[in-house]
Amino acid sequence: METRSQWGTRAGFILAAVGSAIGLGNIWRFPAVAYENGGGAFLIPYLFALLTAGIPILIMEFTIGHKHRGSAPLSFRRMNKKTEVIGWWAVLVAFVISTYYSVIIAWAMSYSVFSFNLNWGEDTGGFLMGEYLKRTVEPGEIGSMVPGVLIPLLLVWVITLGILFKGVKKGIEIANRIFIPALIVIFLIIVIRAITLPGALDGLEAFFTPDFSKIMSADVWVAAYGQIFFSLSIAFAIMITYSSYLPKKSDITNNAFITGFGNSSFEILAGIGVFGILGFMAAQQGVGVDEVVTAGIGLAFVVFPEIINQFPGLNSLFGFLFFASLVLAGLSSLISITETYVAGLVDKFKISRTKAVAFGGGLAALISLLFATQGGLYFLDAADYFINQFGVALIGLVEVVLIAWILRQLKGIKEHANDISDIKLGSWWTISLTIITPLVLGFMMVRLLKQNLL
Ligand code: PHE
Ligand code: NA
Repeated sequence: METRSQWGTRAGFILAAVGSAIGLGNIWRFPAVAYENGGGAFLIPYLFALLTAGIPILIMEFTIGHKHRGSAPLSFRRMNKKTEVIGWWAVLVAFVISTYYSVIIAWAMSYSVFSFNLNWGEDTGGFLMGEYLKRTVEPGEIGSMVPGVLIPLLLVWVITLGILFKGVKKGIEIANRIFIPALIVIFLIIVIRAITLPGALDGLEAFFTPDFSKIMSADVWVAAYGQIFFSLSIAFAIMITYSSYLPKKSDITNNAFITGFGNSSFEILAGIGVFGILGFMAAQQGVGVDEVVTAGIGLAFVVFPEIINQFPGLNSLFGFLFFASLVLAGLSSLISITETYVAGLVDKFKISRTKAVAFGGGLAALISLLFATQGGLYFLDAADYFINQFGVALIGLVEVVLIAWILRQLKGIKEHANDISDIKLGSWWTISLTIITPLVLGFMMVRLLKQNLL
């Protein structure tokens, strides 16, 4: 039997795990979600979710991958034959995510070039109407180097699949060793520039001012858990896959804490950067910060371009760095998402990595072209909503209940982790996974079903 690939170094694994975690979700999702759900007060449910679900599940998934040395389907199969299908379900969700996540990275790639030539047009709101997607190359047009989304999308896939062809140590590890430090440096430049802009403090005030009246609202708690799951890449089969390449001696618990806190620090930093910039924009326009905030995709692809249009000299480089950070953060996540089904195929069908990358990645790339068409934006929104609500919360719930209550694996997992880790798992870990997380996720599911069916 072929021996399983391994990470070259501990730092290599941590950078890859952090690279998977830090993604588009940190940069455009977190700031808007936090702002809408109570600002500074959101940090309370958010940190609660990090400590009772995020890090405990991360430790659980790292241990499962390390102990069973398999991609998610294989690891689940090794726990219990009947549960392999749960692993495949998570793999399928990862596959679907990769088909649209890649498109957002491609937009960011075009927009990093548009930061210089302002080719996104005067009315940046056109992005949401799909106008950007209708763009075609006009011969001789300035900036036609990046026509629409097709070429950047192909580039995204060539880079991602190229890295995956090279394998775990020579591909994924090396890529993250370059991408993540570069991302952190670029992001620090952005944040420092942002908070020194006139008006930035108003933005930060808007972001952090706690609205405690929201804290009792179920929506806010649901948002906090949703953010933690998506942001930490848990319940997607990804972290199980990455940890299956760990060497025997690995401090699982410590790695999980570094990944969890690293990801959250980055996203809070992103909130500071983004709201600093929004404060600046509001000050320039003489309006309140709440008038310039837009949620989700619009924040990155409408508001930022608008700012750059208004102050091109000042902001082209800044805009470029912002979109470049989206590209780097996005690519390191897309690599992990794609590796999840590549590893699933390799483990199941005993095919070579090369074949699995070509077939799995190739198919995802083809499907992603659909999202790059005009109707794609609406389709993408729907897919994102559905995946986040039903995919993540539901898989998370099934995974935790299965492992804690049905297969009763927690004791074994805890012993395995404690054997190789410095920090020993206490009862907070067990209670979080047996009681708190199942209750919260169960409540989330019931609520979702009610909202969608009634
Ligand atoms: N965690 C990544 C982010 O914050 C996204 C992601 C989701 C990555 C699911 C892998 C799997 O953007
Ligand atoms: Na993240």
